[in-house]
Amino acid sequence: MKYLVGANFKMYKSQKDLKEYFDQFVNNYACFVNIDLMIAPMTVCLGTASEMTKDSCVHLGAQNMHYEEQWAFTGETSPVVLKELGAEYVIIGHSERRQYFSETNEMINKKLKAALHHGIRPILCIGENLEQKELGISKETLKIQLREALQGIDEVEKIDIAYEPIRAIGTGKSATPEGVQEIHEYIRSIIGNEKSRIIYGGSVNDTNAESLISQPAINGFLIGSASLDPQKFLKILDVVSKSESVKK
Ligand code: PGA
Repeated sequence: MKYLVGANFKMYKSQKDLKEYFDQFVNNYACFVNIDLMIAPMTVCLGTASEMTKDSCVHLGAQNMHYEEQWAFTGETSPVVLKELGAEYVIIGHSERRQYFSETNEMINKKLKAALHHGIRPILCIGENLEQKELGISKETLKIQLREALQGIDEVEKIDIAYEPIRAIGTGKSATPEGVQEIHEYIRSIIGNEKSRIIYGGSVNDTNAESLISQPAINGFLIGSASLDPQKFLKILDVVSKSESVKK
């Protein structure tokens, strides 16, 4: 199994910023053999990003998509177009989309099915909030998210899962490596396949990456803030490339 390291640029980085980023990044990134690297810029920038990363080992991803191929849905993006623009991955069900755009597990389930149908590899985001953690219902919450999101899908091995506890996203307070290890083992026991990568997201940076990736059940990262700086992101990739904890 290769690690999966993903960069989620959210609504940062204009086309001009991307050019500067990829000028530094693509020239310095040496295709680590044990890592699949995914970068998800804003959807409107995917075409340009595709040009900038061609002949590199960067795989592009989208941060969201609609489940319909075409319909009268003003402002939405079709999976067909994402594919045309070069997206190989799509992040589905990020907590910011659940929180600010009212995405439900039912919608997420439809999006996962559509992505698989169109040959785009989904990264399904799940995670409990602080209140759920304090109530001691983290695992129960994740189980429900997984059960509802994966309902009726028999190709779960074609989906990667990002565990992102909401309290850790963008706060600088990552979850502990041991805590993440335990949750990832639990997620693995629920999804019941060995092929999906179970990656961690939430304030991963160049100082905590090593202790996190040394946990055997952590198969990579989904990174927001620290991916915006190409030098920091390269440092994290370097750390992951030297880790041997991933299953052969
Ligand atoms: P963060 O974001 O690395 O800034 O915490 C992670 C994410 O939102 O996927």
